Amino acid sequence: MKIGCVKEIKKHEYRVGMTPACVAAYVQRGHQVYIQNGAGEGAGFSDDEYRAAGAQLLTKAEDIYGSCEMIIKVKEPQPSEYPLLREGQILFTYLHLAADEEQTRALLNNKVTGIAYETIRLDDGTLPCLAPMSEIAGRLSVQEGAKYLERPFGGRGILLGGVPGVQRGKVAILGGGVVGTNAAKIALGMGAEVTLLDVRSSRLAYIDDVFHGAVSTLYSTEANIRKVIAESDLVIGAVLIPGARAPKLIRREHLSLMKKRSVVVDVAVDQGGCVETTRPTTHDNPVYEVDGIVHYCVANMPGAVALTSTLALTSTTLPFGLEIAEKGPEQACRDNGAICRGLNTYKGQLTCKEVAMAFNLPWTQAEQVL
Ligand SMILES: NC(=O)c1ccc[n+]([C@@H]2O[C@H](COP(=O)([O-])OP(=O)(O)OC[C@H]3O[C@@H](n4cnc5c(N)ncnc54)[C@H](O)[C@@H]3O)[C@@H](O)[C@H]2O)c1
Repeated sequence: MKIGCVKEIKKHEYRVGMTPACVAAYVQRGHQVYIQNGAGEGAGFSDDEYRAAGAQLLTKAEDIYGSCEMIIKVKEPQPSEYPLLREGQILFTYLHLAADEEQTRALLNNKVTGIAYETIRLDDGTLPCLAPMSEIAGRLSVQEGAKYLERPFGGRGILLGGVPGVQRGKVAILGGGVVGTNAAKIALGMGAEVTLLDVRSSRLAYIDDVFHGAVSTLYSTEANIRKVIAESDLVIGAVLIPGARAPKLIRREHLSLMKKRSVVVDVAVDQGGCVETTRPTTHDNPVYEVDGIVHYCVANMPGAVALTSTLALTSTTLPFGLEIAEKGPEQACRDNGAICRGLNTYKGQLTCKEVAMAFNLPWTQAEQVL
């Protein structure tokens, strides 16, 4: 198969979909790999390293989209890339369609085979291609939140760990999955007082266990959310209903309960955000204020630590990519339920129920269209 990887054009996105080691793995199995010049620069991989691994370098993204059967990326295609996507082309990347109707329609109109990293789901319900980015975003969320709590950055002027004789900062985490658990780990490490809320009691029990009770756990009810956000300095939004738009757990009227210049880091922004006042921001202008609350809503947080992120992401996407390249998307989906659950669009049909529900569009089960 001809496989292509383009330079990411989303603002401040420095990750890349394939490392030279990935190129070598595809080439070893007889595939041809095309890399756009400079694609790996942001993550620290030179064109020469890609060449040495067996890739052919092309200058223009148009040439890669024009000649490759499968495109491996990191972020969803940007509007300027929509016209380049071709019928039957496999797009293997993060798509986050439930938060993006325009892109959903573009993939359907262009009859792209869209396989989304974030909905590849193993039989045990875990999301192997989302997990490494969630680990990174979870850890970064506290690092960024701590920074924006500093007064010069617009925050309350709170040091999360406090000092002897002065109260520690309070962190509330909504959602105790991968993002939430990693946020809790870093917040605890910084010395903050941490409360985590989830709707799954099994998850709350797990958190209680692994942190030996150092993290307070609460059921995620409206009453508990109201109480906890009113006391917190930093609130992390980390909920997910796979494939669907995030539920709005913090509505605008809740902001008035919160302390002035406290910080919300809504990591779930890529699924529409779990705070009503969330709107996506970028690394060069990451925060804005609503009703006295600082909002940090960067949709591609791991892009800031591009090298760590690229290595973590590509090591989990590679085996799935190799299977798709070897068998073709249809057989790969038939053989591997995880890849099948990753299929969002195929031959102009929507194959992800949650995306269909977000925009009231018709959908068909992946198994039926293949
Ligand atoms: N902004 C970024 O750069 C970035 C990076 C990585 C992940 N993310 C996003 O972060 C979000 C979380 O990802 P994850 O990997 O931790 O997902 P996950 O599935 O591991 O965890 C989500 C958790 O949310 C819980 N949840 C669902 N509804 C809830 C509710 N009403 N109240 C409280 N908890 C609820 C679930 O029970 C689950 O434990 C996703 O939207 C993901 O796309 C964003």
